[in-house]
Amino acid sequence: MEVVIVDSPAAGAEIAARAIAELLTTKPAAVLGLATGSTPLGVYDALVRMHQQDGLSFASARGFALDEYVGLDVDHPESYRAVLQREIVGRVDFAAGAVRTPDGWAEDVPAACAGYERAISEAGGIDLQLLGIGGDGHIGFNEPSSSLASRTRVKTLTLATRQANARFFHDDLGAVPKHVLTQGIGTILKARHLVLLAWGTQKAHAVAQAVEGSVRAMMPASALQLHQHATVIVDEAAAANLTQADYYRYVYLNKPAWQGI
Ligand code: PGA
Repeated sequence: MEVVIVDSPAAGAEIAARAIAELLTTKPAAVLGLATGSTPLGVYDALVRMHQQDGLSFASARGFALDEYVGLDVDHPESYRAVLQREIVGRVDFAAGAVRTPDGWAEDVPAACAGYERAISEAGGIDLQLLGIGGDGHIGFNEPSSSLASRTRVKTLTLATRQANARFFHDDLGAVPKHVLTQGIGTILKARHLVLLAWGTQKAHAVAQAVEGSVRAMMPASALQLHQHATVIVDEAAAANLTQADYYRYVYLNKPAWQGI
């Protein structure tokens, strides 16, 4: 995989946004894999700026979220459907219904998960999947021990993940759902380009294990090592535990000018 070490989250967000903009320019009907959490917010801000200033259009594009909580009220502002609407979908020109999230309100959960997989396939698969990483190495909501071949399904969040996300629920741990629907690791690996972003020292351990550790279910992000086109964009703090950081910098600095991430 390619590791890009940047000075700041803003610089990393700009690189990811540029990759999405280039994709949309060459393939206006691209299928984007969207992530939630704090990490990708700078990417969304950059895309909104490109939409407003440069006319970058999402009108023919489609999107699929990585995951969704189960058990929130349908109009809860922290459902990922609501978060994505607020952070990106409603700020650019996606067509109505072009961005889907797993149906966390479905009565028949297995059918909803199978339907989500089918919808991704019928859209032609995901061209570029944005990813964050949990401190425990989760991608999407695939917690440690998730099968590396898993597909969209219900998962139970670890206490650590619920504690990390309590900040979105007025620091009320009891308000953070225990269950989620998430694309599986196998689903994520089907996307044509994976772009994982990580900022801050609290991600340094997971980043180093994912990039340089062994591939294993206890470190879900290590599955990126199995992908043909995975880009990991990290700031200096998140890169702190990488043993080969100098080599990654050297590779990136010496890339052919025409080659994007
Ligand atoms: P964060 O979450 O972007 O809010 O740090 C990432 C994740 O848990 O996948």
